[in-house]
Amino acid sequence: MMETELTSKLKIKYPIIQAPMAGGPTTPDLVASVSNAGGLGNLGAGYLTPEQIRNAIRDIRQRTDRPFGVNLFVPEQLSTSEETIAGMNDYLNKYRSELSIAPNPSIPKFTESFEEQVQVLIEENVPVFSFTFGIPPLDVIQAMKQLGTVVIGTATTVEEAKQLQAAGVDAIVAQGSEAGGHRGTFLKSTTDALIGTMALVPQIVDYVSVPVVASGGIMDGRGLIASLALGASAVQMGTAFLASPESGAHEAHKRKIISSNEDSTEMTYAYSGKAARGILTDFMNDMRFYPGTIPAYPIQNVMTRDIRQAAAKANNPEYMSLWAGQGLRLAKDHAAAEIVKQTIDQAFVLVKSFSSLGVVEE
Ligand SMILES: Cc1cc2nc3c(=O)[nH]c(=O)nc-3n(C[C@H](O)[C@H](O)[C@H](O)COP(=O)(O)O)c2cc1C
Repeated sequence: MMETELTSKLKIKYPIIQAPMAGGPTTPDLVASVSNAGGLGNLGAGYLTPEQIRNAIRDIRQRTDRPFGVNLFVPEQLSTSEETIAGMNDYLNKYRSELSIAPNPSIPKFTESFEEQVQVLIEENVPVFSFTFGIPPLDVIQAMKQLGTVVIGTATTVEEAKQLQAAGVDAIVAQGSEAGGHRGTFLKSTTDALIGTMALVPQIVDYVSVPVVASGGIMDGRGLIASLALGASAVQMGTAFLASPESGAHEAHKRKIISSNEDSTEMTYAYSGKAARGILTDFMNDMRFYPGTIPAYPIQNVMTRDIRQAAAKANNPEYMSLWAGQGLRLAKDHAAAEIVKQTIDQAFVLVKSFSSLGVVEE
């Protein structure tokens, strides 16, 4: 056991949350393995249809009777002109030609219905609901809480954390700029809210009273203990689990995770129109020279989908999105339960080493 305010609230043994990772990595197997190991597994359900979410929840429940979470994307206003979309479509055709797929595909609906996704979570009475990219309507948060669901929001600044607390969340993920994947930033920021985990966590801790979860670049017991020292009540680790056998990430993505280093990632808007950290690819490099405006999320995300899917099929990582955080040299391809255990074992050794430092107050 390693008890904190949040582990008690979540009814888990260890303050380790496996990050929700939409797009395939967080299989029911990964989620259940982490929960069975004493952490909190999380399904990244942002891109899933309501039916897919229901099936995944039931699959997770077949594999574990421990708590787990489901994560959704809060919908955003679309504000991209037809001209911007047409310009990007033309530009993307050159990748389509390289990958031998049809030009000018018809663009399907941009996002799944958030209301319908939420409805499934309510019907299935999930233990934990987390979200990113904004704040859901207050009646959604209230309905979840009334059912006993623990509600967790994502912040990248102190102001976002304060607004989440005012909306009634039970805990807040403080997502530092080291983090892999999309940024949860939802308030205007002149500098893109790229605050490192070390600086962000204690500042959020000082301004909110709900438990804070440190996220971004945390890969092992050292990161866990450092986060607890900063005032966090748990950590949320994504990249650390991406290359595990239970992860549904593409094999080419897993290989890149294992072979990359601290300097391999960059922040990009190229794949989705929203800031996200991933391993540098030819697509990211090339899109720097795009002369127009990249359509905003989720439009760009839908527009590049056929390219990413064709690249994945062809095992060509250069046109895939290889989301990853900055802790890459610490990533292992160990089983998820092993990653939880190693993190906890290392954390306990560290705690002991601190108490034997012999520091005495003068
Ligand atoms: C592949 C990938 C997908 C992600 N998808 C989501 C998501 O669907 N929802 C979410 O809240 N965060 C998502 N994130 C961000 C994580 O919640 C978390 O902030 C991040 O993984 C922490 O940094 P780390 O990767 O260095 O551990 C994703 C991260 C990665 C690497």
